[in-house]
Amino acid sequence: MRKKIIIGNWKMNKTPSEVKKFFDEFKNKKIEFRSNMIYGIAAPSCDLYYAVNERPNDNFVISSQDISKHLSGAYTGEISALMLKEMGVNYAIVGHSERRTYHKETDSDINAKAKTALENGIVPIICVGETLQEYESGISKQVVEKQVKECVKDLDLSKIVIAYEPVWAIGTGKTATNDYAQEMCKFIRSLTSNETLIQYGGSVTPESIDELLNQPDVDGALVGGASLKVDSFISLIEKK
Ligand code: PGA
Repeated sequence: MRKKIIIGNWKMNKTPSEVKKFFDEFKNKKIEFRSNMIYGIAAPSCDLYYAVNERPNDNFVISSQDISKHLSGAYTGEISALMLKEMGVNYAIVGHSERRTYHKETDSDINAKAKTALENGIVPIICVGETLQEYESGISKQVVEKQVKECVKDLDLSKIVIAYEPVWAIGTGKTATNDYAQEMCKFIRSLTSNETLIQYGGSVTPESIDELLNQPDVDGALVGGASLKVDSFISLIEKK
């Protein structure tokens, strides 16, 4: 049976002292976790070292929000797989729609980043998803098919995570219906494999997550806003 994977994407939020506060509060809670689940957060680069060392327990995954396709060299501002690996970071989000939009990342960049991650024992969480205009034009599947095919080229499909995040649902409060999330995740599965973990992302909340996770092809969630506060994050990962 595939595991569920729930990752909080903190984006550009939380200074190191705010991470400490989050973890201190987390450690004080008694949590009964969902079974068969991978969970954790994707922190800003400056918080990663602290996050790995101060995380509440060893099962608490710490992910980066990006990774360079290069291992070292003159790439100002980037963070490499070697750095992440040595810190103990073992997941990396790649190709988030905010990076595609603001940093002009292409599917081939994302494929190269995912490849470098995998070669260094880091699990890439590869983000795909259509824009509102593409959704309204009825071409979501064509767009996502192209993204998936290019991003996963030559990768071991049993070792990656794909996050299906319709851009129109990110940070908008407009979550996709459960049926739509299922249909798109099932479609992505048909392009990948039965072992690939496929998350849904886009305005997921503690109220919406259970029904989403009940969908047969939705293996988890990538959660932005609702992962920033401890109580809300805990309601995403605890057993109901
Ligand atoms: P959101 O963000 O949950 O705030 O919509 C999700 C994401 O961008 O990963």
